[in-house]
Amino acid sequence: MNNIFNYKNNELFCEDLLLKTIAEKFGTPTYVYSINGMLDSLFIFENAFKILNKLVCYSVKANSNISVIKLFVGGGAGIDCNSGGELFRAIKAGATPSKIIFTGVGKTEEEIKFALETKVLMLKVESFQELESINNIAASLNLIAPIAIRVNPDVDAKTHPYISTGLAENKFGINISEAQNAFQIAKSLPNLKIVGVDMHIGSQITTPLPYKDAINKLILFVNDLNKNGIILEHLDVGGGFGVDYDGNNKINISEFANELTPLLNNFKGKIIFEPGRFLTANSGVLLTKVLFTKSNNKKEFVIVDAGMNDIVRPTLYNALHEIKPLKVNSNPKNVVDIVGPVCESADFIRKNYSIQNCNQGDYLAIMSSGAYGFVMSSNYNTRRRAAEVLVDKNNFYLIRKRETFQDLISGEIII
Ligand code: LLP
Repeated sequence: MNNIFNYKNNELFCEDLLLKTIAEKFGTPTYVYSINGMLDSLFIFENAFKILNKLVCYSVKANSNISVIKLFVGGGAGIDCNSGGELFRAIKAGATPSKIIFTGVGKTEEEIKFALETKVLMLKVESFQELESINNIAASLNLIAPIAIRVNPDVDAKTHPYISTGLAENKFGINISEAQNAFQIAKSLPNLKIVGVDMHIGSQITTPLPYKDAINKLILFVNDLNKNGIILEHLDVGGGFGVDYDGNNKINISEFANELTPLLNNFKGKIIFEPGRFLTANSGVLLTKVLFTKSNNKKEFVIVDAGMNDIVRPTLYNALHEIKPLKVNSNPKNVVDIVGPVCESADFIRKNYSIQNCNQGDYLAIMSSGAYGFVMSSNYNTRRRAAEVLVDKNNFYLIRKRETFQDLISGEIII
């Protein structure tokens, strides 16, 4: 589905549903996701890489609402989890353990036990110490742990430094120069079974080049493993496939597939992908309402009811989300700062942004918010986290209620 969010008669729709309906029924800020947009993204991804023997594991950190996970599980995807909490959600969503991979640079003993007892497809190992720990925990449970070693290939993903993960200076994985040794140690540990090798070089990667560099290194690495008698069932190239945030940066996943498929096609086992953002980002928006407008001799401000606690990407990564009015008017455009209600100057949604003149009570949609939106929200300033709604054609389903004040204090013990 190409046009998930479209104007009809100057009003913004999600699929066939007028977005104002949701803003009025559930209030704002509210996240809205398109079921068919998400499922189409999975189909487009699968189809681009269709020649490969593969498993696409949705990386639930991008959007871990159980109903969203359930959609992808229903679409046949596996799941990539990065914590015990995400694993718990995946199971609640009905994911098949043999299609779940368990990631994480800092797993606790409790999380390792949980993953082993769940009988996940594999646990990814990111350090020498972790090899020993997983072996010991598996032994104590009388189990054999299926593991993949995450190799850090030391390539530059050319993305924001906070979401670059495949450089030697990043904390992730075992450096490629030491990783043969890690595999040999793993082979010698009785309660480990080596099933794969893994990489993940970063997020919001917009060209195939960094993947090509990293995969070329990994394939040579796998050949060396073969020579040393280690044959792998899985080669996991991670996630990171970028999306278009501002309408100017069209990304064609087929271009990635055309470049990467020939490199991966000779691998005898299964290729694993872990896309998160690609599957959800452009299928979600955050609806917000204009509370006030004001200006001084320097700036015009549009103060909205969504803040950095609801969507932190602009503050944290200077991310540039498009912002669209739910109703287009004929007012002239203004250059404004769209800011939230949180008590921080870093609480902005977009600065120096050209948008039609906004009035009190107008609704706006913060576009491309389906990934790393709600999941990164917080209760800062004791603000209630937003509601989430799923849309299917002209039907909608509340999939998370807005928090209440009572929810906010429910875990507290007053002494
Ligand atoms: N696999 C691993 C091991 C990861 O660390 C990640 C993301 C993914 C898969 C999924 O990556 P994706 O396909 O979504 O790029 N909060 C940041 C993004 C952080 C990504 C962390 N790891 C943002 O809002 O841009």
